[in-house]
Amino acid sequence: MLLFAKVGSNLLTGSLIERMAHKLALIGFGTVSQGLAKLLMEQTESIKQQGAEFQVVAIATNSRGSVFDPDGLDLKAALKAVQSGSLDNYPGGEKGWDSLKIINESNADIIIENTLTNLDDGEPALSHFKAALQQGKHVITANKGPVVLAYSELMNLAKANNVNLLIEGTVMSGTPVLNLSHFGLGGCNIHEVQGILNGTTNYILTQMETGMSYDDALKQAQELGFAEADPTADVEGWDALAKVVILASVIMGVDLKVSDVDREGITNISIDDVEKAKADGKRWKLIGQVKKENGVVKASVKPMLIPLSDPLAAVGAAMNAITFYTDVLKSVTITGAGAGGPQTGFAVLSDLLELHRSES
Ligand code: HSE
Repeated sequence: MLLFAKVGSNLLTGSLIERMAHKLALIGFGTVSQGLAKLLMEQTESIKQQGAEFQVVAIATNSRGSVFDPDGLDLKAALKAVQSGSLDNYPGGEKGWDSLKIINESNADIIIENTLTNLDDGEPALSHFKAALQQGKHVITANKGPVVLAYSELMNLAKANNVNLLIEGTVMSGTPVLNLSHFGLGGCNIHEVQGILNGTTNYILTQMETGMSYDDALKQAQELGFAEADPTADVEGWDALAKVVILASVIMGVDLKVSDVDREGITNISIDDVEKAKADGKRWKLIGQVKKENGVVKASVKPMLIPLSDPLAAVGAAMNAITFYTDVLKSVTITGAGAGGPQTGFAVLSDLLELHRSES
């Protein structure tokens, strides 16, 4: 187990333990990790109140360089440098370390992996995860690729190396659905999960109800920054499928393959379909579903007509929601943000605090 404590003295409290900062390396510095960097600056006081301190010692990007300083980076300067085009513009630190060198050789004890999601082979993130876990470093991520493709293998690797892999940001960004299922609903048997898991498609369907065309609504979602780099991943249901696979692993303990999930996107839904649903007191929603029946887990992503009495029908724009169907509490629905830099950065921060609590 990694040690975060050093012996010191604090005459006011009489405590003999003075906490050292957790040292972080950010692998990937796009919207999510930039969102995290801003939160680390803005929320310093509330982080301190929880007895934690986080110091970023390294940042690596795919095409905008890297920087490493074992004594900690100035996040404001790092954000300014990357926004100016390259971390080479950061004043100080060592430049030119690649992601694997940072993972293997830097003094970071927590690796924040947020490179681009790749559902084909999970790379380069999968190699980053494995290297970090093998080095006895914790991994926190919002990257769905490796989690979808190798959840059990990675969890076993983390366990074997006595570290944690935390993935709250992979489903519904900062809205705490995985932690809710694990902690809050830990005493229940969850037999079905049904949700709106993709903000872009929900935004498009909501706008189409006001008469906007599919193309204009998609364009707006792209401008607002919810859509994936290739929006096919959203509108054809791949992004929601990835989240369904993760929910099946985390909640049902079953590793599904991408090909096990029935998938249909929203591209066949016309304005006429949306208007007819409205006239019938219903709404089209792209629903991800995982269901356990007689011990068999089945999963799907498809557009469904939802009656207005269902809490999911009221979830508009880019919001997401999940209903957990349980034995004790029956249905529990949580609604919240499902995308966005600050929101997903917040999921990473909540995992950092969880890691800190588990080690205190
Ligand atoms: N493109 C995704 C969405 C982002 O629209 O929900 C979060 O995975």
